[in-house]
Amino acid sequence: MYSKEELSAIIEEYIHALPFPEEPDTLYEPIVYSLSKGGKRLRPLLAMMACNIFSDDVACALPCAAAVEVFHNFTLLHDDIMDNAAVRRGKPAVHRKWGVNSAILSGDAMMIYSYRLLEQADPAILPRIFRIFNDTSLKVCEGQQYDMDFEALERVPMEDYLHMISLKTAVLLAGAAVIGAVCGGASQEDCDRIYTFATELGMAFQIRDDILDSYGTQDSLGKKIGGDITEGKKTFLTTAAMEIADEDTRRKLGGLMHNREMIADEKVARVLAIYDSLGVREQAETAVERYTARATEALAALSVSGGRREPMERLALELTKRLS
Ligand code: IPE
Ligand code: IPE
Ligand code: MG
Ligand code: MG
Ligand code: MG
Repeated sequence: MYSKEELSAIIEEYIHALPFPEEPDTLYEPIVYSLSKGGKRLRPLLAMMACNIFSDDVACALPCAAAVEVFHNFTLLHDDIMDNAAVRRGKPAVHRKWGVNSAILSGDAMMIYSYRLLEQADPAILPRIFRIFNDTSLKVCEGQQYDMDFEALERVPMEDYLHMISLKTAVLLAGAAVIGAVCGGASQEDCDRIYTFATELGMAFQIRDDILDSYGTQDSLGKKIGGDITEGKKTFLTTAAMEIADEDTRRKLGGLMHNREMIADEKVARVLAIYDSLGVREQAETAVERYTARATEALAALSVSGGRREPMERLALELTKRLS
């Protein structure tokens, strides 16, 4: 079996070697910039690791793994426009460097490139891979739309927030992992278990992302801290706070989240003070642990030996403590 480091190196080399035309440079430069400036490569890693659970030949999953990463990077180009985010992976977001129109069109081209990569899958499994990929990517759009719709709402039930993050984030991790498992020849039952595993992991992943957006550091996260609060996004923290706060605090928090006049740093500090007084960070940490436990439970049910599950299990546990 391959270690995480070996698979990461294989993925990096493959993505680095992807051929993009030179012209028009304003279309392709942002793509190369986006793909070459790092990131955790979590989704291709999940695809490759899932393949490797069932097969020693991982090369067959590589174009699909890269396709999901290109798709993910495309969503980030558009997401940073939608979220008015200036920094990504410690560098200017594409829409800040090249303008919004470039970020839209380069993003569109990246989506098409992801299909190009998928075309390279084994013809015997290609229709299945496309179905999974298309189901997944449409759900990501649905999740992103809910995410934006929720900005305007005073309050969102926890159930709706969880549904939104399952769509915008968890399904892509799940899609990546299942595509990898299909490439590795997994049975339908094992594909279902892998899907459950990566969905639960994705929930933990997005809740951790929400925590880090408020309590991380720009140096390790590569994003501007407090962006969710500034933009009035509904995160696990806001949602939990609204559920447990008394009427007065709830009104105060609601007013702050919709306040577009206040200086950003002051708004962030005031919201964080409310979060701290309510202990919602701890509640979010507990949720991350709960979803991770569910993920590893699904992994344990796979019809393979413990040794084959081990790298994936380790990755899931590493992610619970991530700072970037
Ligand atoms: C960011 O994803 C978008 C979310 C779903 C939270 P990542 O945190 O995986 O971003 P990179 O690719 O590692 O930069
Ligand atoms: C992003 O969620 C989900 C997608 C890009 C589909 P966020 O908006 O929380 O991601 P970050 O924090 O900007 O990376
Ligand atoms: Mg967003
Ligand atoms: Mg964002
Ligand atoms: Mg975020």
